[in-house]
Amino acid sequence: MKLPSRVKIVEMGARDGLQNEHVVSTQSKIQFINQLSNTGLSHIEAGSFVSPKWVPQMADSKEVLESVIRRPNVRYSALTPNLQGLEQAIEAGADEVAIFTSCSEGFCQKNTNCTLMESLERFIPVVEHASARDIPVRGYLSCVIDCPYDGPTPPDKVAEIATLLLDVGCYEVSLGDTIGTGTPVRVQQMLSSVQQVMPTQQIAVHFHDTWGQAIANIYQALQMGVSVIDSSVAGLGGCPYAQGASGNVATEDVLYLCNQLGIETGVNLEKVAQVGWDICAELNKSPTSKVSLALR
Ligand code: HMG
Ligand code: MG
Repeated sequence: MKLPSRVKIVEMGARDGLQNEHVVSTQSKIQFINQLSNTGLSHIEAGSFVSPKWVPQMADSKEVLESVIRRPNVRYSALTPNLQGLEQAIEAGADEVAIFTSCSEGFCQKNTNCTLMESLERFIPVVEHASARDIPVRGYLSCVIDCPYDGPTPPDKVAEIATLLLDVGCYEVSLGDTIGTGTPVRVQQMLSSVQQVMPTQQIAVHFHDTWGQAIANIYQALQMGVSVIDSSVAGLGGCPYAQGASGNVATEDVLYLCNQLGIETGVNLEKVAQVGWDICAELNKSPTSKVSLALR
């Protein structure tokens, strides 16, 4: 068994987290991101330049990105589904942008109002414009295990669309188990298929914890050499276009696992847990992270 010696955490709380909670004030979001910046995280997804009619929770992303205190070693990224979103992200000073599509037509249509191939065509000018300004582009691929509309996703379909995202110009593809139904054997099959077509260094994993399998799935991915993990402080979030899907795996749970396995993350668990309690107080809920609850 060969585990990576270091893992990079991509913090989703302020985007994937808050896009699915009731609307939080702009000031609270800024404070939340500033607190996250002091925990050792090196990549914080800070907003989403999507249509405010589709996701009103992210309507103030420009003000948020413009107002957060930028730590020099932290990359602040945002989702950009089209050129309109990219222009706003550039104006707001996003360090990195992300495009997103799905392995399945059903989710793609519900989430972005277009077919899978139309979504990829839409991304070509987005990546061209971002690259011309030296802004790195990450790709998200949803429904890598199951689609809430189309059912199970064949592993070779994941490899096929992941390759297309690389061809468009993404430096990394984040493989999303959007509705959290994955289990380690299915994750192993899916990752093996993707590893046949792209280097493991360009793969990130993005597990939602709806069925409580995210940590087991991450352990599976670590054993296959994956070293970039998306997670959300306090386990916040979900996707508005995947009914019933819960938040991302909690950052606290990933940090505890990595610490216990001797994998470096550079992130302070106790500080992250405190940020989780603070944002949850704002949201009038408790963290879903077992580790956070145990630390209390
Ligand atoms: P559309 O309605 O087909 O777009 O939406 P349109 O081009 O016809 O434009 C319609 C209106 O939207 C126009 O305004 C545009 O100006 C406006 P109107 O003339 O009606 O007043 N518009 C925008 N406004 C602001 N920013 C923009 C923008 N684009 C258009 N960028 C669109 C197409 C893609 C925009 C829409 O479907 C959308 O915003 N979808 C985003 C849905 C979303 O954010 N989902 C959650 C994020 S993905 C996720 O969570 C999964 C992930 O975590 C991985 C995983 O877990 O699997 C990444
Ligand atoms: Mg997600």
